[in-house]
Amino acid sequence: MDFLATARRSGFTIEHHQTIGSTNDRAIDYLRIGGASRHFVIADEQTGGRGRLGRVWVSKPGNLYASLALIDPAPQAQAFQLGFVASLVVYHTLRAVGLDGAHLSLKWPNDVLVEGKKISGILIEGLSLPEGDQGVVIGCGINIAHHPSDTLYPVTDLKSEGVIISPFEVLGHFLASFEKWLSLYRRGEGFGDIREHWLTLAHGVGGLIVVKDRKEERVGVFVGLDREGRLLLDQNGQIEPVIAGDVFF
Ligand code: BTN
Repeated sequence: MDFLATARRSGFTIEHHQTIGSTNDRAIDYLRIGGASRHFVIADEQTGGRGRLGRVWVSKPGNLYASLALIDPAPQAQAFQLGFVASLVVYHTLRAVGLDGAHLSLKWPNDVLVEGKKISGILIEGLSLPEGDQGVVIGCGINIAHHPSDTLYPVTDLKSEGVIISPFEVLGHFLASFEKWLSLYRRGEGFGDIREHWLTLAHGVGGLIVVKDRKEERVGVFVGLDREGRLLLDQNGQIEPVIAGDVFF
């Protein structure tokens, strides 16, 4: 799939870097200096790739590193919902490049798993812009040719799953998928459908999970998502919404 043609059709602009610190940092700066919405920053390699909860995202050449800069894409307090949108984008990108849906699932808040192994990561960041606008950057990494070895979770990449493909080919499908799922989200109005679709693909609903954040570790049954997208954890009959954390099955 020709990614430049897809970008043009979908109204995305793209800047490409061979090496950059972090595509998310560059996308944030781009919005800060007045850049327009629907702009992608992509890189072959990141020297300071960032993950969720302050972690490092190892970013050697061969994988996809892309950040989408958006202006007012969601209700201000609900920008995290774009993580569900982006997980569906990555899920359908992986389907389009040949992975079997029977092996894929989604893990709260926004990981995509192949047979329980993490293949991608999503980092959503927001910033305030002049005149009350909200800038949002959706950073996505997809493991294509390699994956790190010393991780908290089992991890994989497309090559290890039998798909040999270049980052630019993956990008074509990724852009087409982004256009589709952002239109369905409709700045938050379509979150009900996004939430339903996400839940049909989710890993571990109804099962016992451990949720860890920087402060504590909670054990309970993953009963679903609330209307906003927070994880609902049943702890001995008391259902608590969880906003952030890592889930272990
Ligand atoms: C996670 O911890 O699972 C999220 C990882 C997000 C990594 C992507 S790679 C492109 C973008 N730039 C970054 O520095 N991080 C995100």
